[in-house]
This record gives sequence, C-alpha cells and structure tokens, in this order.
Amino acid sequence: MKEQLAKIRAEALSAFENVRDAAALDELRVRYLGKKGELTAVLKQMGRLSAEERPAMGQLANEVRAALENALDTASKKMEEAALSAKLKAETVDVTIPGRQVQVGRRHPMNTALDEMKEIFTGMGFTVLDGPEIELSELNFDRLNAGEGHPSRDWSDTFYFDTDERVMLRSQTSPMQVRAMDTLPLPIRMIAPGRVYRKDEVDATHSPMFHQVEGMVIDKGVTMADLKGTLATVAQRLYGPDTKTRFRPHHFPFTEPSCEMDVQCHKCGGAGCPTCKGEGWIELLGAGMIHPRVLEMAGIDPNEWSGWAFGFGLDRLAMLRYKIDDVRLIFENDVRFLEQF
Ligand code: PHE
Repeated sequence: MKEQLAKIRAEALSAFENVRDAAALDELRVRYLGKKGELTAVLKQMGRLSAEERPAMGQLANEVRAALENALDTASKKMEEAALSAKLKAETVDVTIPGRQVQVGRRHPMNTALDEMKEIFTGMGFTVLDGPEIELSELNFDRLNAGEGHPSRDWSDTFYFDTDERVMLRSQTSPMQVRAMDTLPLPIRMIAPGRVYRKDEVDATHSPMFHQVEGMVIDKGVTMADLKGTLATVAQRLYGPDTKTRFRPHHFPFTEPSCEMDVQCHKCGGAGCPTCKGEGWIELLGAGMIHPRVLEMAGIDPNEWSGWAFGFGLDRLAMLRYKIDDVRLIFENDVRFLEQF
C-alpha cells in the first residue's frame, strides 16, 4: 500500500506539473482526488490493515492527499495567471501606431449651387418647399393649363405609371406651384427644388433625370416688373453685380406672358466664346406671369391677386458655375471628379 501511495503521488505530481488546460486539469482532479479516484480507492483498502499499521498509513495517505491538493492548487493558479497574461497581451493597444487616415468628403457641386440659390431666395423672404417626384398628371399638366392633347403629355416624353396616364414621374417642378396654392395661405413666396424626369437619351447635355428649382410669388399688385427685377437681382448675386440679363418672349401653358431669361456670358462679356457657344448670352430660366386660369383653378381670384413664377435647371447652373462640360459627370459620382470641388 505504501508503494501504491508513493506511485500515485509521483504520477499525480508530475501530471499536475505538466497539465496544459483547464479541462485536462479538472480531469486530473477527478482521477486522483475524486470520490472514485485513485487515492480514495487505496484508502478504501485501509480496513484490511492491522491496527498497528493503520495510523502510520493513515498519516501517509493524508500527506499524499495534501501534496496532491497543493499541486492542484498551484496548477490552477498557474493556469489563471497564464490566461490573464495572454489576455493582456492580446488586448495591448500600441498608442504609437499612426491613426488610419479619414477620407473627408466634399459637397457635391450641385448641392453647393442649390445652397447658394436657397440662400439668395430665403434672404428675399421665400420659403423652401419639398414635394413628391411621383406626381399626379392632374397637377403636372391639367392644373397648369396643359390639358388633353398638349404635346408635353405624350408617352414619348413622360414616364407614366399607368395606362390611364394618371400617375407619373413629374416632368417639371411646376406642380409645386399648384401644391403651394392649394396648401399655403396668401401671399406666397416660395421656391421648390427637386428632381424631374423626362424620356431623354443620355448625352453631354441631357439626362432622363435632372434637377429644377421652381419659384413662385403671389401677392396683390404683382407685375412683370417684379419678375424682371427679382430675377435680374438673382443673376447678379450668382454672377456678379455687373451681370446683364435679357428677357425674350416664350410660351408656357401656365404663364401669360411667358419669357426666358438669358445672362450675358460672364466668360467673354457678350463677345461670343465656347462657354456661350458663340452666342454671347446663356439661357438661364423660363418664367412668366401666372396665367389667370391657373389661379382660378386653385380658387384664387385673378382680379384680386397676381403672381409670377420661374423654373430653371440646377444642373445647368452648376455646370456653368464650375465649368463642367458634361452633365453625366454630375450624376456618375466618380470621386476623381468630385474631389476637385
Ligand atoms: N416648368 C417650365 C419648364 O420646365 C419652366 C417654367 C417654370 C416656366 C415656371 C415658367 C414658369 O420648362
């Protein structure tokens, strides 16, 4: 029995010494110190010893148990320490490593142009409205005095959602005039920027989706002089105080009279250059006095109220401003292009 105890002690101590992980350590504990372990098995044989032999053997057995428990304790402490130092090592932060460079974005040139417009118009007392891109043809056409058979209603120009041609992608921001008349109290001063859609083939100057800014004023005693004065001031704010504007007659179904406004080319001063395609003038927007019938359809008495409206292409404005010669660059969002602004 003495030899058995010595053998268990030697084996167990070396096993505890070399154990690698917690699971293995627990296995060893059960194997040597557990209720069904090797030491217990030996102790169970104590009954067979004589009364003289028993105390010495009991003492030896206790010594062996104490030694084993001690070894178990040491092994599990070692393991905890190893786990802690591994964890500390894994979580080390090297504060001397240079930080990752953050890529700072830039404002899209079109948004810069829009911000500029908003600032000019809010400074003149206009509110900024937002409206749906999916619009009723009733608001995009009928309420704007472009009834059945008007050429702009054609399937070849307009994205309809249904064969009844009732719902469409708005082809202009002008339905926002109607929405403003239907919802806002008079007088009204508003601009409404946003996306519009037309069935145009993509090329350097066309895109089936582009941006417009609509503007409208309705008040008492508003005349064409207000339209011209305000829009000429806007052009000067955009292109400098010496900017010259000219108004040409035009036609829109929802304005009467209607006009287009050109600015004298800020590049060549009117002499003609590539920017203005040799014209000396650059077309900037469409405008006009709101047609009395449009006011009437909104329940506004044209004998009491009058107004004017305008609409211009934001993409074109940004292109002029930043000398961008291809509209596709505005929508492709190639960072090599956008980084230049
Ligand atoms: N909606 C017109 C267009 O897209 C522009 C316009 C707006 C003209 C307001 C007059 C008044 O061409």
